[in-house]
Amino acid sequence: MTHSNDVILHAEKVVKNFGGLTAVNRISMDVKKGQIFGLIGPNGAGKTTFLNSISGTFPPSSGQVFFRGEETTGSSADAMCKRGMSRTFQIPLPFPKLTVLENVMVGAVFGAASDSHQPAQERAMEALQFVEFPIAPDTPANRLNAVQLKRLDLARALACGPTLLLLDELAAGLTPSELDDMMDLIRSIRDQGITIIVVEHIMRLIQGICNQVMVIEYGTQIAEGTPDEVLNNPKVIKAYLGEGH
Ligand SMILES: Nc1ncnc2c1ncn2[C@@H]1O[C@H](COP(=O)(O)OP(=O)(O)O)[C@@H](O)[C@H]1O
Ligand SMILES: [Mg+2]
Repeated sequence: MTHSNDVILHAEKVVKNFGGLTAVNRISMDVKKGQIFGLIGPNGAGKTTFLNSISGTFPPSSGQVFFRGEETTGSSADAMCKRGMSRTFQIPLPFPKLTVLENVMVGAVFGAASDSHQPAQERAMEALQFVEFPIAPDTPANRLNAVQLKRLDLARALACGPTLLLLDELAAGLTPSELDDMMDLIRSIRDQGITIIVVEHIMRLIQGICNQVMVIEYGTQIAEGTPDEVLNNPKVIKAYLGEGH
């Protein structure tokens, strides 16, 4: 397999079947280093299943995944994390009785940065500061609201020390001003040299921060291009608004 050095993630015809349902149907994707790559599509389109298939939640049914120039098809989630791919979850599930800091330390201990000489607790504190976590680090995770839990999940993913970060609907539920802050935060993560794939429904975020966008519907890629190209594509408008618009 040859592809250019500036491609950090290459997916080749990735398929994921659940029984008779093809949730992801031959999706191919090239994500370049330094990009913020948007993956969008209606609910149930297969966005989360695609992220799960490339990051080790489960192996794809067929197809191949290459990360940082090496084939990683079917590698486990912890192996992918160690290689430098970390992610947040659409519905974060922290360890409820552990504190905020302890939850983030889990990322620091098990991620790509785990062999660094910096103590895990220090790296976890840095990640919390970087995301401007608004709550004391010794607060138990079960005291956080949904928006705070998403930010905790982001801090945990950053503490892993990723080169590629997958964000699954991180901005859902934010107020407009919180959304502006989140867009700034995602840009500042990219400016640290971390490539990002964002799954998101909020078009203001997609238009504001993405270099490249892919649209999927019923598991199939229907468009790819710059945000403006994609959001003005009649097929994409139809996928979102249905017939008759
Ligand atoms: N673990 C699973 N088992 C069976 N079906 C699933 C599973 N995960 C997702 N699906 C189905 O796959 C399709 C795509 O789901 P998902 O990837 O969550 O979509 P999206 O993230 O784009 O909203 C949906 O029809 C969903 O019901
Ligand atoms: Mg999803």
